[in-house]
Amino acid sequence: MAEFLGTSKRTKMCGEFRAGDKGSQVTVTGWIAKSRNLGGLQFTDVRDRSGIVQVCFDTHDAKLSEKASKLRAEDVVAIDGVVRSRGENVNSAIPTGEIEILANGLKILSESDVPPFAITDNTNVNDTLRLKYRYLDLRRPILQNNIMMRHKISQAARQYLNDNGFLEIETPFLGKSTPEGARDYLVPSRIHAGKFYALPQSPQLYKQLLMIAGFDRYYQIARCFRDEDLRSNRQPEFTQIDLEMSFVRDENDVMDIAEGMIKKIFKDCKGLKFDKPFRRMTYKEAISRFGSDKPDTRFGLELTDITDVVKDCGFSVFSSTVQNGGVVKAINYKGFADKTSRKEIDATAEKVKTFGAKGLAWASLKSEGTTSSFFKFLTSEETDAILKATDADVGDIIYIVADKPSVVHAALGNLRLYLGEKAGLIDKSAYDILWITEFPLLEYSEEEGRYVAMHHPFTMPNSDDWDKIDTDPASVRARAYDLVINGQEAGGGSVRIHRRDIQEKMFKVLGLSDDDIKTKFGFFVDAFKYGAPPHGGLAFGLDRLVMLITGEENIKDVIAFPKVQNASCLMCGAPALVEDKQVKELYITFDKVEDTEE
Ligand code: AMO
Ligand code: AMP
Repeated sequence: MAEFLGTSKRTKMCGEFRAGDKGSQVTVTGWIAKSRNLGGLQFTDVRDRSGIVQVCFDTHDAKLSEKASKLRAEDVVAIDGVVRSRGENVNSAIPTGEIEILANGLKILSESDVPPFAITDNTNVNDTLRLKYRYLDLRRPILQNNIMMRHKISQAARQYLNDNGFLEIETPFLGKSTPEGARDYLVPSRIHAGKFYALPQSPQLYKQLLMIAGFDRYYQIARCFRDEDLRSNRQPEFTQIDLEMSFVRDENDVMDIAEGMIKKIFKDCKGLKFDKPFRRMTYKEAISRFGSDKPDTRFGLELTDITDVVKDCGFSVFSSTVQNGGVVKAINYKGFADKTSRKEIDATAEKVKTFGAKGLAWASLKSEGTTSSFFKFLTSEETDAILKATDADVGDIIYIVADKPSVVHAALGNLRLYLGEKAGLIDKSAYDILWITEFPLLEYSEEEGRYVAMHHPFTMPNSDDWDKIDTDPASVRARAYDLVINGQEAGGGSVRIHRRDIQEKMFKVLGLSDDDIKTKFGFFVDAFKYGAPPHGGLAFGLDRLVMLITGEENIKDVIAFPKVQNASCLMCGAPALVEDKQVKELYITFDKVEDTEE
C-alpha cells in the first residue's frame, strides 16, 4: 500500500478529526470537495463518507502550493499535515469545524475528469443523469448517510435475531415459482431445454421447509424479485428481513419477536424508544374507519358511515346505491369550507374519480351560506340528519361517496390521504406504528373468477371461522398480520398451516386441482407428511424500513443501485441484448429486436 498512499498511513477518516487532534502530524485521504484561495492560503475540503475536513495549503511553500493549485473537484488525494485550530474561523456547521490540517505533503492518487454534476446535496440535477452516474450520485452526503443507515438497520436486525436464537440461513435464488402473487422473473436453463428457474418472490417455501427440517428459528436478509409495476415504495428487486419460527402458539409469539426487533432498530438507529406495545387494529376496523388496510393514523378525517341515514333519502344516487347493497360514507373536512374554493372542490371531485369513484357529492358549509351538489334533492330533515351524522358545523366541508364498499373505501381512503397531505395535517416527524390483524383469508378475484389467498395459500385460517369456509368463504379470517408504519406496509406475515387436512381444503377452496398442487407445490406438500411443527413468521421490507427511518419519500434513495420506472438500470443498461449464441444455448427463439435505447 505504501506505494500508493505515500509513506504514511491514513490516520483516520476525514470527518473524525476533532480539537483533541491539535498538534498531531496526520495523513488524510479522500476526494476534493472544493478549493478556494484566500490571500496566501488555499483552503481545500477533503471528503469521504465520514464527512469533510478542511486542509490549508500555505503559498509560502511554493512547491507544495503549486501542486495544490492544480487540484480539481473529485481528484483523489492523500495529504500529510499538522492539525491546528481554526481560531476565530470555527465552522460550527460541521463536526470537524474547530480544526484544519496545515498541509506539508500532497499526493494526487487519482485525477478526476470534470464530473457531470457537482457532488453536493442541494444540486438540482435531474434523476436520469444522477442514476446514469450513480457512483457519483452516491458520493453525495445524503445518499452516503442513507446507505450507511441501511447497514446499521440490517446489523441491528441481525444482532437482535442472533440474540433471540435465530439462525441466518441462505436460500436459493434459482428455484421454483413462489406463491406471493406477483409475476415471476424467470431464468432459462441451458441444460434443460425449455425449462426455467424462477427467482424467488420471497423465501416463503424454503423458510417453511427449514422449519420442517428442524432449524426452529430462521432469518435471512433476503433479496426478493417481483416483476410488478414500480412505485415510490416498490422495486422489482428488493430486500426483506425475513424470519420464521417453530412451535409458535399463535400469532402473538411472532408479533412479539417482530415488535421487539422494530423497537431495537428504532432505538439503535434513530435513538427513539417506544415503551408501550404497538397498537393493534383489526382489518375490519381499519377499512371501516380509514378506508385502508394500511391506515396513516397520524391525522383524523376518518370515514363516517351514513348508509342508514340516507337509505330512503330523496337523492337517488344515495338511496339506489343502498338498495343495491352498496354503502354511503362521508369525510368531514373539518374547518376547511372557507379555505376551499369551488374550483378546488371541483378538482377534488375529479381527483376522487381517479381513485375509482363514480362521483363525489359535497356540501360546503361556508360562513356566508351553504352550497352543495346534492342538498337540493333532500328535505331539510334529511340534510340535518346527514350533518348530525357527520358532526358537521359551519366551516366544514362534507365529501360523500356512494358505491359498493370496496370502491367507497378505496376512494375515500385515498381522498383522506390527499386532503391530509394538502392541508398539512400530517405530522411528518411522528412515527405512527400499528399492527393490522385478522385479515380475511381470501379475497375474490374478478379477473380470475375465483377466490385467491389474500396473504398466501399457506396461511392458517382462524379456527373460529373455519366452519364457514364453504358457506361464506369471504368471512373467514386469517391468522395474518401486517405492521404499518406511517401509512405504509412495512412488513407482514402469518401463522402457517401445518395440518395436512386444512392445507388440502385450502387448495380446494382456491380452485387448485390435484394436478396443479402436485406440479406447483408437490415437494412442499410432501414435506408436511413427515412431521411439520406449528410455525409462523413474517418479513419486513428492509428498503421500506430504511425509507421510513431516513424520511426518504422514494425507495430509490435507499438502494445503492436501483431500477427506474421501466425496470431498467440507467447506469449499466440492464436489461440488455445478449449474443445470439447465448440465446440459442438457452433454447429461446424470438424475432430479432433492435436495441432502441442508448
Ligand atoms: P409480503 O409480500 O407482504 O410477504 O412482503 C413482505 C414485505 O416486503 C416488502 N415488499 C416490498 N418492498 C419493496 N418493493 C417491493 N416490490 C415489495 N414487495 C413487498 C413490504 C412487505 O410488507 N413471504 C411473505 C412474508 C411472510 O409471510 O413471512 C411475504 O413476502 O414491506
Ligand atoms: P348529478 O345528479 O349528476 O348533478 O350529481 C349530483 C352529485 O352527485 C354530483 O356532485 C356528483 O359528483 C355526485 N355523485 C355522482 N355519483 C356519485 C357517487 N357514486 N357517490 C357520491 N356522489 C356521486
